[in-house]
Amino acid sequence: MRDVYLDNAATTYPKPESVYAAMDHFSRDIGGNPGRSGHHRSLEAGRVVLRARDALAILLGATNPSRVILTKNATEALNLGIKGILSAGGHAVVSCLEHNSVWRPLEALAPQGVTYTAVPCRGDGYIDPAAVGEAITPATKLLIFMHASNVTGILLPVAEIAALGHERGIPLLVDAAQTAGCYPINVEGMRIDLLAFTGHKELLGPQGTGGLYVAEGLEMPPLLEGGTGSNSRDPHQPDFLPDRFEAGTLNGVGLAGLHAGVEFVMGQGLERVREHTLELTERLTCGLGAMPHVTLYGTADAAGRVGIASFNVEGLESSEAASLLDERYGICVRSGLHCAPLAHRALGTLERGTVRASISYLSTPDDVDYLLECVAALKNI
Ligand code: ALA
Repeated sequence: MRDVYLDNAATTYPKPESVYAAMDHFSRDIGGNPGRSGHHRSLEAGRVVLRARDALAILLGATNPSRVILTKNATEALNLGIKGILSAGGHAVVSCLEHNSVWRPLEALAPQGVTYTAVPCRGDGYIDPAAVGEAITPATKLLIFMHASNVTGILLPVAEIAALGHERGIPLLVDAAQTAGCYPINVEGMRIDLLAFTGHKELLGPQGTGGLYVAEGLEMPPLLEGGTGSNSRDPHQPDFLPDRFEAGTLNGVGLAGLHAGVEFVMGQGLERVREHTLELTERLTCGLGAMPHVTLYGTADAAGRVGIASFNVEGLESSEAASLLDERYGICVRSGLHCAPLAHRALGTLERGTVRASISYLSTPDDVDYLLECVAALKNI
């Protein structure tokens, strides 16, 4: 049986060889704690972190790498941004597609007086920036929008939303979990104030890595206090970045891998990465869209998407279809709600969920064709 991995929106697999090698090298040959001691192993570990941060800043278009805070995942980065800006209460405007990593922190802040408005999407899955403008009130303190939906793959107009926020002095927090590494991002050019990303998806790094870009001039309290290897006599968290937001030992081995992933993406060039994923996405959405026994969610137009397609097969629960694809054909896809019940409510799939196929830069046309062949075969089950 073949072994085809199309669950890259959950985490990319495989990673480039250089990612495995960098993590092995860090674990075996470096081994020190970054920024905590003066010996050569700690200094070398510190340089690994520095290089990862510098590469991320270049990829994301941030002039000052200290504004790239390293976290364990996008969820931690989103919590840092949301709880940082809304700690004293206020209103947020979000999309109706947001992940639980936005929805749950907002709900958890309700006792502190936080409220939010979820902007609905159109029938084709797009969010209209004008509808965002209409949802803003005098109490709005933060706009939170994902760059692309992890359920449909559809891109959201975050640069236009950032412009709306700037006209009114309201910061925008972007969840780039599905776009960092496969779609061009320039935080300064797009005037994004906060951008959360994960390292283990299209940046091709390992799980347990991620970060938050924080624009110059944006002040907020940290999520955690603790050791930073700096100002150790001071009972308070340092006020300079990145130390202010990076309490505790960093994931040195993970960041070594993330650095290699980012270097790989930059070596290929984002344009080439986007072109390849666009080609495969088109193949995927056109193929699924043409099957009468399949419902594809969101527009079939690949230009408005990243490499994600959610669908259902007539007569099958989403979990049944995904299990059949795995057990009969050796294809890994994710079914259910994808930790994004708001998006499924908007799509009308809250009860049934969807089957989600997602590609990475390392996926091939053959992977997509095999999935299409197997989904076609599900018609007769
Ligand atoms: N948020 C990830 C997903 O969409 C894990 O599958």
